[in-house]
Amino acid sequence: MDNISVVYATKTQHSKKLAEAIGKELGVEAINITKQAPSPKAAGLLFLVGGIYAGKCNPELISYAEKLNASITGKVVLVTSSASAAHRNQGELRQLLVGKGIEVVDEITCPGGFLFIKLGHPNKTEIRFVAEAAKEISKKSAASADGKDD
Ligand SMILES: Cc1cc2nc3c(=O)[nH]c(=O)nc-3n(C[C@H](O)[C@H](O)[C@H](O)COP(=O)(O)O)c2cc1C
Repeated sequence: MDNISVVYATKTQHSKKLAEAIGKELGVEAINITKQAPSPKAAGLLFLVGGIYAGKCNPELISYAEKLNASITGKVVLVTSSASAAHRNQGELRQLLVGKGIEVVDEITCPGGFLFIKLGHPNKTEIRFVAEAAKEISKKSAASADGKDD
C-alpha cells in the first residue's frame, strides 16, 4: 500500500480547488466522490478533503469514510476548509476513522469563505500552503514506511 489517493466532496468548489492542487503536487488525480462515486481503493496515504456546514462534515465524505477499512486504507490526512476558525476540524470524520482502526496522521486546515465571512478564501496563497503541507506529509509518510524516520 504505497500509493496516494486524494478524494473530495464539495458544495461550493473550495474542496475541489484544494484537492486538485494537492493532486497536482503529488502527481495523482483528485477524485470527486459525489460525481464519480468510486469504491475506495487501496491507498497507503489517503487525503480526504471537505468543508464544514452548520458545524458538521460533508455527509458525502462521511458516507465514503464509512466504506473504508483498515485493510485497504493505511493512513489518512484530513484537509478542511471552513469560514470559522472554531470549525476548522472534521471531528466526526476523525472519530469514525479512528473507530475503524485507521490512523489519522494529520489535518491541514485553511479558511473557506461563506457569504460575507472569509469571502475570497481559500486564496492562491492558502491553496499553495495546503498543497505544500500535503507534500511534506507525504514525504514524511514515505520515509516512515521505509523506516527512515528517527
Ligand atoms: C450551507 C453552508 C453552511 C456552512 N456552515 C459553516 C459552519 O457552520 N461553520 C463554518 O466555519 N463554515 C461554514 N460554511 C463554510 C464552508 O465550510 C466553507 O466555505 C468551505 O470552504 C466549503 O467547502 P466546499 O466549497 O468544498 O463545499 C458553510 C458553507 C455552506 C455553503
